[in-house]
Formats: sequence, structure tokens, C-alpha cells
Amino acid sequence: MSQTAYPPISEHLDDVEAAREEGRRKMDWAFQHMPILTHLREEFRESEPFAGQTIGMAMHVEAKTANLVETLADGGAEVAITGCNPLSTHDDVSAALDAHENITSYAVRGVDDEEYYAAIESVIAHEPSITVDDGMDMVAAIHDEHPDLIDSILGGCEETTTGVHRLRAMDADGALKYPVFAVNDTPMKRLFDNVHGTGESSLASIAMTTNLSWAGKDVVVAGYGYCGKGVAKKAAGQNANVIVTEVEPRRALEAHMEGYDVMPMGEAAAVGDVFLTTTGNRDVIVEEHFEAMQDGVLLANAGHFDIEIDLDALSDLAVSSYEARDGVEAYEMADGRRLNVLAEGRLVNLAAPIALGHPVEVMDQSFGVQAACVRELVEGEAYDAGVHDVPDALDEEIAEIKLEAEGVEFDSLTAEQREYMGSWEHGT
Ligand code: NAI
Repeated sequence: MSQTAYPPISEHLDDVEAAREEGRRKMDWAFQHMPILTHLREEFRESEPFAGQTIGMAMHVEAKTANLVETLADGGAEVAITGCNPLSTHDDVSAALDAHENITSYAVRGVDDEEYYAAIESVIAHEPSITVDDGMDMVAAIHDEHPDLIDSILGGCEETTTGVHRLRAMDADGALKYPVFAVNDTPMKRLFDNVHGTGESSLASIAMTTNLSWAGKDVVVAGYGYCGKGVAKKAAGQNANVIVTEVEPRRALEAHMEGYDVMPMGEAAAVGDVFLTTTGNRDVIVEEHFEAMQDGVLLANAGHFDIEIDLDALSDLAVSSYEARDGVEAYEMADGRRLNVLAEGRLVNLAAPIALGHPVEVMDQSFGVQAACVRELVEGEAYDAGVHDVPDALDEEIAEIKLEAEGVEFDSLTAEQREYMGSWEHGT
């Protein structure tokens, strides 16, 4: 590793032992509620499928992710990890991971841009044979700066919608040089993590950060995709009046048929009390919207990057700004209105000071799929360069482990039913 490499977490902390202990306590609590990872960890400890592999990861480093990391390390891998967002790392968990003999963690909360990318470089210096990303920053850095490593990389896994979008664009340009599984797109991830996880944890983070109620509020949800659906449903469940903004006609119609108000952001801006962006796009709330907003509104983002709310424009419009609460920056307009931005416009469920990310049970599923995909890269067929759907059998395997852990039994097709479902010859 080069001398300028960004150092592991342990070199950033004054009391490493105390941090490790607290991080381990958080990991143990989460692990008690992760039956899928528990099952896979036992399997991996026995068969050591990752012996000889080096896994480079850029993920939100908190207790649940840490249990995935340890599961992979217990399966024989050497793992190097850093954060995928400057504000989502829990330093104590990062320190607990770094104490594992097969794991080096470079994730530190509150890094600036330069440190963020330097930490990714430190992970890449381990020369990973497998990458696991949340947002694609690791894949991008390897392709841009270290193409020489590509030949020795078996493949990668991508956790989130934005990362999969970026990878598909890269693939379409012929620029993606190794295979990557679109973990985000599996039913076991998307239908639970994006919908329930983002819905529950975003609303919980906003409520805890502000100490304000949802009941009776006009809540504007930008984007009615998987995350937006979850946020809208849970906000309605807390007695808020939900307004949806969309650019895709079928999704706008779906929101309308669910009973939500649908309107352009240009109209919603004047009506909303709380705004939550979930589009994965940029410039969703901009200057003209800030100008129309009421005094005291809350502005938060649950999309992957901090570009959905145009904070530069807001800053230019404001005559002053101040920290109204921990995790809340109030921007005061010339006419006295205060617009409150949560968690600097970054993923509110992960980057707010008290944020815990998704519920444990949900991440057990997402990370179960991740772990099964890493195993597939090692044990399965040789995949071509490009984005790959996760084989359905792997996703079903994870669902079956979870159902068994929950004590839920379900039916299976009879031979006649299977034959009928696969044939075109039976008509009226
Ligand atoms: P999706 O693609 O299902 O939904 C996005 C929706 O936003 C689409 O319906 C699209 O038409 C709409 N949209 C795009 N531009 C818009 C605009 N200018 N105004 C209004 N609507 C617009 O994506 P999904 O799975 O819901 O993910 C959304 C974002 O959330 C991504 O960045 C993803 O990476 C991130 N994400 C965040 C999580 C978290 O923990 N906060 C968890 C999972 C995903």
C-alpha cells in the first residue's frame, strides 16, 4: 500500500477499545434479528467458499452491514471496507470490524470529499477479487484509476437503485469490464428494503430529528418508485395527507389510484409542510420551489445522492442560516420564512445524527441476497462483463430461509399444476 494511503479507522480514534466494545454491542443486537445471515454464516464457516478471495466493499458502515462483512470474512475472505456516504458511518462499528483479523475498515464518519475517495483508494490497494458496492463508487474508481486490476476481478454486487442505474449506463456504453449483479433489482431486496425499509426509517429519522408529528401534515413525496411508495404509504398510515410528484405517467396514475393527491412540484411547493425526495434524480426541488414554500417547512432527501434538493440555490436565496437542532439547518429568507433542511440533504434515514438506517429484519434480506451473490461469483458459472440479474433460485433460497425462520409454511405446485402453468395447449 502507498505511503499516502488513508489509514484504517483505528488510527482516527482516541479510545479505540471503547469504540470497539460499543460497536460490537450494536452488531450483536442486530445479529440476533438476522436469521438469514445466521444461516449463511454457519454454512460459510463450514465450507469457507471465499478462502483466497479479497473482497473490497463501499457500503454504509453500521451494525447490519457489519454483520454481512463478518459473514463474508468468516467464510474465508479478506475484506477491506469503507463508507459509501460521508455521513452514514458509525465509527464504533467501523472500529469493531477493524478488530477482526481478516477485516480492515477505512470507514470514518464526517470525511470530506478528498478523504472519502482516499479511503476508497485504500480499499482498492488490497487488490480485491470481488467488489460489493452501494452506489457504484468502488466500481467507478477501479475502472477509472486501476484498470490493471480488472482482469483479476471475478465480479461485483451492487446494492442500490442509483448504483444499478449508473452500472447499466456504463454497460450500455461498453465501459463495464467485469460482471456485476444488480442485487437491488431482486424481489427480496426491492420489495422490502426500498419500500418498507426506506419508508419506515426515513419517517422515523425525520420524526426523531425534529420531534414533530406526522398527523395532519401535508407531506410531499417526490418520486413514486419503490422508495416513494413506501414513504407515501407509511406517511398516510401516520395520518398525514400525502401529495405525490412524478414524471412517469403510469406511476403518477398509480399514485392517483392509490388515493394520493398528484400534482407538479411547482404546485406542491406552496402546499407542503414536509418534502421528501426519493427520485434518484437531481434538481427535484429548486429555487422557484423554495420561493413558494411556507415558513417552517421540512426538506429531506431519501435518494442516494445529495443533489435532489438544490442546496446551493437555497443558500444563495437565504439571508442567513443556522443550526436549528442537531441535524436541522434553518435557511432564513429575506421575508422571514425559514426552510429547514435535514441531514444536509443527504439520505435522511442514514445521515441524520440519530439515524439508524433500515430496520434490521429488512437488511437481513438484502444482505442475504448480497452474500448469496458473492458465493455465486465464486462457485457459479463464469459470468460475462456487464450487469446481471440475480438468478431467481438464489433469491428464492433467501426467501425460503426467512420463511422457515419465521415459522411460515407455504404451498408448492403439484406436478399437474406445474405442467399446466408451462403449457399452451389447455384452452377452454
Ligand atoms: P425507482 O426508479 O423505483 O423510483 C424513482 C421514481 O422517481 C421513478 O418513478 C421516477 O419516475 C421518479 N422521478 C424521477 N425524476 C423525477 C422528478 N424530477 N420528479 C418526480 N419524480 C421523479 O427508484 P427507487 O428504488 O425508489 O430508488 C430511488 C432512490 O432511492 C435511488 O437513488 C436509490 O438508490 C435510493 N434508495 C435509498 C434508500 C435509502 O435507504 N434511503 C434505499 C433504497 C434506495
